[in-house]
Order: sequence, then structure tokens, then C-alpha cells
Amino acid sequence: MNPIELNSLSDALLRKIRRKKGHPFNPDRMARNLKTTREQLADAAHHLEELGYSLKIDNKGRIIFRDAPDSLLPAEIANGLKTNFMGHRVEAYQSVQSTNLIAHRLAMSNVPEGTLVIAESQTKGRGRMGRSWHSPRGLGLYCSMILNPKIPPTMAPGISLMTGIALVETILGYGKIDVKIKWPNDVLIRGVKAAGILTELSAEIGRTHYVVVGVGVNINHGRNDFPKELKKQASSIRIGLSRKISRVEFVQRFLLAFENTYLSFKKTGLGDLRERILKYSSLLDTTVRLKMGRKIITGTVVDIDEIGHLVMETKNGLQIFSAGEVTSHHNR
Ligand code: BTN
Repeated sequence: MNPIELNSLSDALLRKIRRKKGHPFNPDRMARNLKTTREQLADAAHHLEELGYSLKIDNKGRIIFRDAPDSLLPAEIANGLKTNFMGHRVEAYQSVQSTNLIAHRLAMSNVPEGTLVIAESQTKGRGRMGRSWHSPRGLGLYCSMILNPKIPPTMAPGISLMTGIALVETILGYGKIDVKIKWPNDVLIRGVKAAGILTELSAEIGRTHYVVVGVGVNINHGRNDFPKELKKQASSIRIGLSRKISRVEFVQRFLLAFENTYLSFKKTGLGDLRERILKYSSLLDTTVRLKMGRKIITGTVVDIDEIGHLVMETKNGLQIFSAGEVTSHHNR
């Protein structure tokens, strides 16, 4: 069998055996059913074990499904995914430089809207402003989604905010937890960054070709999983909830939440989402310093407008900002 045949037989076997956890499946019948030989079936079972599935072969050679790994494999993400299009195509990798980079390449080859690029780790995870995103293996969600909204590029900042809503609401689904959106692209847990969004577009004046939304979430990181320089500035869902969660389930819930906010965004821009943005915003009514290049402006945040711009009351009156780096007034 070539690797593609092995993958598709393993997928077919998995779909059958996972329906009845603990049930012994007769290998001859299964091989007939899947139109293959017992030898090839054994290869497929072995391949699944290599991917981390827990199977048992009993003394009669019967195959028993015991458990699936919490690995971000296409078959796991598809199993129980409730979306209509988000994540219906998944490109999954063990390690990549950056999922955003791969998503850009894919987007140029006309893949369906909602295609997800996901990796267990990144070696050059990209953050905003040329920063990097710490992406250790097996702990977080590092993914990029490809979208084709028919919007002018000026509306793109709204995509980061609507992604922020989807992240906040996904996290809130796990229990009572202090989670907020920090304009324009961060998600904070108890005031400390736990997720970041990097929206990148290919566009010309007035027309967006495609959008890549990169999302990095610290999910099961413990405090010691962050390098020294990040320890004070980084949190995770595990730290916020005091327990680990399934990353596969998280990405499924997030894709569903994202699909809903995205559909709303396509219909009304931030219009229908604005109330939630304001509700989750960590900056509203606080005094902040906004850094734009070398300029620093101090003021009180009074609104996030319908395009997603930050509205601040400053000593020169109301001012509106489309981008920048915000710190709280007291943190220098
Ligand atoms: C930020 O907070 O500066 C944005 C961080 C975005 C990180 C994610 S991880 C998956 C995707 N691929 C990347 O290289 N970056 C984004």
C-alpha cells in the first residue's frame, strides 16, 4: 500500500471501530467489509497505533478500539464537528514553521472557504509586529483559517475582533473564567495574554482576494511550559481553569463559534457583534497608552466603533485609532 492508500484504509477502519468502543471486531469480516486483505488491515491498525490510538488485538486477532489520542488529526477534528463549512478541509502537520505561511500558499490554489491548517508545533510561529509565537508541541492550538469574504480591505480589522468573540465564548463554555478581548487582537485570562490572533490578507485597493486568520491559543500549558521571558506575560486555559482540556474538543467548539460570528460578520459587519465586543473588551472605560510607531497617546477608551476602531477621549478630544499597541496607563 502506498501512504495515501494506507491513510484512507486507516481512516475507514477507524470510522468503523470507534462507533463501538470496547467491542471486538472480527478481522476477516472487517477486511471483507473494507474490501482489503487481513494483512493490509493489520498494517492499518498498526498505523493507527503509531498515530496514538489505543487499540487492542485480542487472542482471536479481533480489533478493539479503546481510546483516541488528543492529537489534532483530521479524523479526530472531523469526528463530531458540527460546522457547515469551517474545518471541513483540514491540513494537519506535526511541525511547521508557521501555519499562516502554509495557509497563504494554499489560499492561492483556491481551496474551499473554511480550510484549516493546523500543527502540533511551530518552529517560527508569527505574532503581530514581527514578534514570534511560542508554539510548543502538543500543548496549544496553532492554526490558520482561510476565508474569502467579499469585503473591502478596510473591514479586515473586524475579522480579528469577531475571532476574539469566538475565542472568548469558546473559553467561557468551559466554566466561570475571567476572559476578555484586549483590542485589537489578544485574548486575556485574568488579565494575562492566553491567545493571539494574526489576520493577514491578500488584497488590492477596494478588493480582498483572501484572508488568513491565524490563531494561537495556550491551552494546556502549565506555568513551566513558558520560557522565562514569557512567564509573567503568558497564561493558558489550563492555568485559568485549573485543569487540562481536550484540544480536539476545543478546536471543534471554536470552529463552530467562529462560523457563527463569521456568518454574522459577513451579513452586518461588526453591526450585530458590537455589543459582545464591548461586553468582552478589557479596555473599555480604562485609561491607556496607545503606541503607534514612536508616538504615544494617553486617553480613556470610550468605544470600539462599527469598523473595529478604538475610540479614545484624549486631551485633544475624541480620537479614533485603527491600530496600535495598548498598555494600561500604570504599566510602563
Ligand atoms: C499575536 O498575538 O501577536 C498573534 C499571534 C498569532 C499566533 C498564531 S499561531 C498559528 C498562526 N501561525 C502563526 O505563525 N501565527 C498564528
